Amino acid sequence: MEYGKLVFDRYSCRKLTDAPVEKEKIDYIIRCATSAPTAVNYQPVHIWVVKNEEACKRIADATRFTFGAGLFMVVGAKADGAWVRPADSQNFAVVDASIVATQLMLAIHDCGLRSTWVGKFEPQVLKDAFPEMNDYNLVAIFPIGYPAEDAEPSDRHSLRKSLVSEI
Ligand SMILES: Cc1cc2nc3c(=O)[nH]c(=O)nc-3n(C[C@H](O)[C@H](O)[C@H](O)COP(=O)(O)O)c2cc1C
Repeated sequence: MEYGKLVFDRYSCRKLTDAPVEKEKIDYIIRCATSAPTAVNYQPVHIWVVKNEEACKRIADATRFTFGAGLFMVVGAKADGAWVRPADSQNFAVVDASIVATQLMLAIHDCGLRSTWVGKFEPQVLKDAFPEMNDYNLVAIFPIGYPAEDAEPSDRHSLRKSLVSEI
């Protein structure tokens, strides 16, 4: 999809079906996400693809924002693998994870699937369920699926601040 169309079309879809998602689409989403830039190319990010039924139920223990999905991707980053800016000691793990997550989110839309970036979840509940996530700063859960027939953007979708000023 042309980039302008992609970014203007995308919206947080909160009504998904649990119809199976093709492996080619999962692979495409991962390829797009892992092509993201990271500071000094340290790539301290990890993506967990959660698709078996039992594991999906454990995601639902960590957040109510699952929207009927049968597939989830969780994005996290390890602070001790990330670049730290010498001038102010800022650790870039969350920045890196957010860029990866953004490319992942747009790829989902690009291949006809829908999702919402979910930040409101209980990280410790997730880590207890999936110990491989320990040591990561968990940035986002993406419930992924085909949209329900009556899925639509929320009212918030069209509310945009200007964000820009000239100096
Ligand atoms: C970092 C981040 C965290 C978010 N967390 C949630 C969430 O936990 N639950 C939810 O329903 N939407 C969540 N959203 C979606 C936002 O509410 C949504 O992007 C915003 O209202 C604009 O709507 P739009 O995505 O349809 O353009 C999150 C978005 C971002 C970027």
